[in-house]
Amino acid sequence: MTRNRSWISLVAGLASIACIACNQASASSSREGVNPSLRGGESEPEGRRPRPNEDEIGPDEAAALGLFRQGKQIFRFDTFGDEDFWGGVLGLHKAIEGRAFGGVGDGVSPATALAVGLKVDVDALPEEVQEAIAEGKVDLNSPATTLALLKLNAVVGVTGFFNDNGSLRSMGIQCALCHSTVDNSFATGIGHRLDAWPNRDLNVGAIVSLAPNLQPVADLLSLGGTKVDVATVKQVLATWGPGKFDAEVFLDEKAVHLDAKGVNRAPTLIPPAFGMAGVNLHTWTGWGSVTHWNAFVANLEMHGKGTFFDPRLNNASQFPIATAAGFFDVRNTPDLITSKLAALHVYQLGLPAPTPPKGSFDRAKASAGQAVFNGKAKCAVCHVPPLFTEPGWNMHTPAEIAIDDFQANRAPDKRYRTPPLKGLFAHSKGGFFHDGRFATLLDVVNHYDSAGVGNGGKRLGLTDNEKANLVEYLKSL
Ligand code: HEC
Ligand code: HEC
Repeated sequence: MTRNRSWISLVAGLASIACIACNQASASSSREGVNPSLRGGESEPEGRRPRPNEDEIGPDEAAALGLFRQGKQIFRFDTFGDEDFWGGVLGLHKAIEGRAFGGVGDGVSPATALAVGLKVDVDALPEEVQEAIAEGKVDLNSPATTLALLKLNAVVGVTGFFNDNGSLRSMGIQCALCHSTVDNSFATGIGHRLDAWPNRDLNVGAIVSLAPNLQPVADLLSLGGTKVDVATVKQVLATWGPGKFDAEVFLDEKAVHLDAKGVNRAPTLIPPAFGMAGVNLHTWTGWGSVTHWNAFVANLEMHGKGTFFDPRLNNASQFPIATAAGFFDVRNTPDLITSKLAALHVYQLGLPAPTPPKGSFDRAKASAGQAVFNGKAKCAVCHVPPLFTEPGWNMHTPAEIAIDDFQANRAPDKRYRTPPLKGLFAHSKGGFFHDGRFATLLDVVNHYDSAGVGNGGKRLGLTDNEKANLVEYLKSL
């Protein structure tokens, strides 16, 4: 009880602190809004142009930086109006708050949220709260704590919309839900944001499954021609597992594709959203450019409100659901997405792949592996350094890389895209290739070696030593 009371006062404290924080945030963002080059220019004597200086930020650089910063906010915090779907239609917020706050079920405690892979941004927590958590004074098993965290905007990729009485009115999701994680600096699942790193712990299927009203999802999937009920939707969601999402199931109803071990290979791994600059086509199956896919996801997957046009989806034999639902030509008024696409694009293009931590690979072996990569193993033919994808049309038939065509056939081009390889260390959890079929980099290398990829199907004939070096090189990228 005492714990409860102190928690309530803590929550009350948090709410006021949160408000101070948001005032500060808006004050600082308006400061940031001032063009830095203009600020600098004010002190220049009139009529004297500043000498060109490499360090100086000119108006064009300042504009680019402005877009980048705006894109970061959008990536982290914009729901594009999707709360009308996640809260309004599915009622997910009711499952989060639980019946104690007027919702349904037991509610979602921070412990449960962390267990399904949600992350907490430690920088959004006031110092007192950090201390209280560290001292074990915060009840991580109470949904009330989850609500307090949502109020602080500390749950990565999830925004709560609150009623005056402190219960949830609705909730929405952001890009950061799937494409960000944290560095665990405070505790497991709690740390500083790592934007664009895929969250390979996030169990999207388990989270969506919590929604009290999945009938609209069943109805959407039924547009494909086969009647789908809620129980089936839940069964399918349970097969996704951590780090995966099936972006195509709402287009083509191909919800299940079992491999020999009975694992559902229809969902794909969440890919990184860093290191995108210079890469032509994106997604595992090359649906389009970064900005094509951003518009696609914001409208069709997150259910934000915008405009989306892609006539390739108007093809009932490949995309029965998308065709019936009119996903090939979506128009919403007001459009809450289109005006944000430029900044979102610039932000993703501006995020380089992270550098592997010191000591995470063997330098000498990596250097020997580089020669194998560029030579005998023929990797560099497709993964062209330093982009590690092909400059140009970076697409391959399933046969060219010696894998099945199930996922490729779910995309307009029916091919797989050569993924850029920088920062592999940041997404080795969950495995490699679109469906994580290869658990380790050595498994990947063994596949290429025995299938003779890039070598006309003739074994590459790599020695164990060459394979080990190649793996160290991949870890070094
Ligand atoms: C529910 C999880 C989820 C959310 C939310 C999400 N994505 Fe993704 N994203 C994925 C998955 C899964 C893929 C791979 C899809 C495929 O290849 O079929 C992907 C692919 C991408 C890619 C392609 C990366 C590459 O290597 O080719 C980009 C870029 C991207 N998403 C950006 C975004 C942006 C921007 C948002 C917000 C507007 C967003 N995503 C929201 C799960 C998500
Ligand atoms: C013919 C072009 C081609 C060649 C040659 C090639 N790759 Fe690939 N690589 C691809 C494609 C396409 C994919 C995507 C497979 C998928 O999505 O399932 C891929 C995926 C990968 C991945 C998984 C990346 C991830 O994010 O999961 C790694 C690692 C990789 N390749 C390394 C190599 C190495 C090492 C070699 C040389 C032994 C090599 N590749 C040769 C085209 C190629």
